[in-house]
Amino acid sequence: MTEWPARVEIREVGPRDGLQNEAPVPVDDRVRLIDALSGTGLRRIEAAAFVSAEAIPPMAGSDDVMARIERVDGVTYSALVPNAKGAERAIAAQADELELVVSASETHNQKNVRRSVAESLIGARDVVELAHEANIEAEAIVSTSFGCPYEGDVEPPRVAQLAGHLVDAGADRLSFGDTTGMATPRRVHDLLDALERAGIAADRVGLHFHNTRGTALANVLAALERGVVRFDASVGGLGGCPYAPGASGNAVTEDLVHMCEDMGIETGIELGALIRCAELARDIVGRELPSAMLHAGPRARRYSS
Ligand code: COA
Ligand code: ZN
Repeated sequence: MTEWPARVEIREVGPRDGLQNEAPVPVDDRVRLIDALSGTGLRRIEAAAFVSAEAIPPMAGSDDVMARIERVDGVTYSALVPNAKGAERAIAAQADELELVVSASETHNQKNVRRSVAESLIGARDVVELAHEANIEAEAIVSTSFGCPYEGDVEPPRVAQLAGHLVDAGADRLSFGDTTGMATPRRVHDLLDALERAGIAADRVGLHFHNTRGTALANVLAALERGVVRFDASVGGLGGCPYAPGASGNAVTEDLVHMCEDMGIETGIELGALIRCAELARDIVGRELPSAMLHAGPRARRYSS
């Protein structure tokens, strides 16, 4: 039988990537959700984004969110930042780790952060420097790593080259984002091959899938079989577009935890508590969420400890 890792590290991104794609919700609700998530055994929570409030209205008030959450020992509360100004704000708000985002495709980077990839790379050095001065780590996230909604295919060697530049810029960790859910297991293998050729082994790679085309867990499985142990996911499957019923967000955290635990891969996360967080997330956004474990009903809970 295929060998799977003994343990994975799941980062919960619902409070940022999920909620940024929903209609804005009050700071109180964001804090409630994060505090509920920190009681599930999750060790990493992407709690906020320090971006322009005009660009991303749901992330306005991230300073308040960070000030009001109840910090749990052993939980890393990270914040996404697009530039040095975001890094300064995140550090002032006592983020435990910064996530610096650069797209692998020029058009997406322009639309997302209004600068070229080359300009973002220069900015990356400033963000890393600010993080290190504050004694925290900076992760680089490469968006559109499996395809770009504007440019289509993104060649894996290009992604690997960008990853190399980000390591040179001092990034402590690397993640690769499937921003609009274009990845399939074939693309996962192609990217991991290209990264390996560039000297970046699978165990140094974090992956961030969206379930837009229903392939998120298939992609995770392909990556697990290559030795990847870090994955992002959002509770309930928060995200997608509030105006497009049925649209999907990230890989669903509770579905991922269920799958891993049943495969004997330890997550450290208590599934029952996580499903209660998904119910809270559903109440907060006021719509049904794509989570399979929410819909599987009481039978699913037999798996919870
Ligand atoms: N947080 C808050 N405000 C910021 C900021 C940040 N990180 N970066 C810049 N600003 C402010 C500037 O101070 C300036 O304010 P002013 O007009 O009051 O002087 C204004 O925004 C414009 O600054 P500029 O540097 O010209 O930014 P821009 O308008 O070109 O926008 C970004 C660039 C990066 C700030 C914006 O595109 C953004 O926030 N993108 C994030 C997108 C995102 O989060 N995507 C999802 C995650 S992948
Ligand atoms: Zn995402």
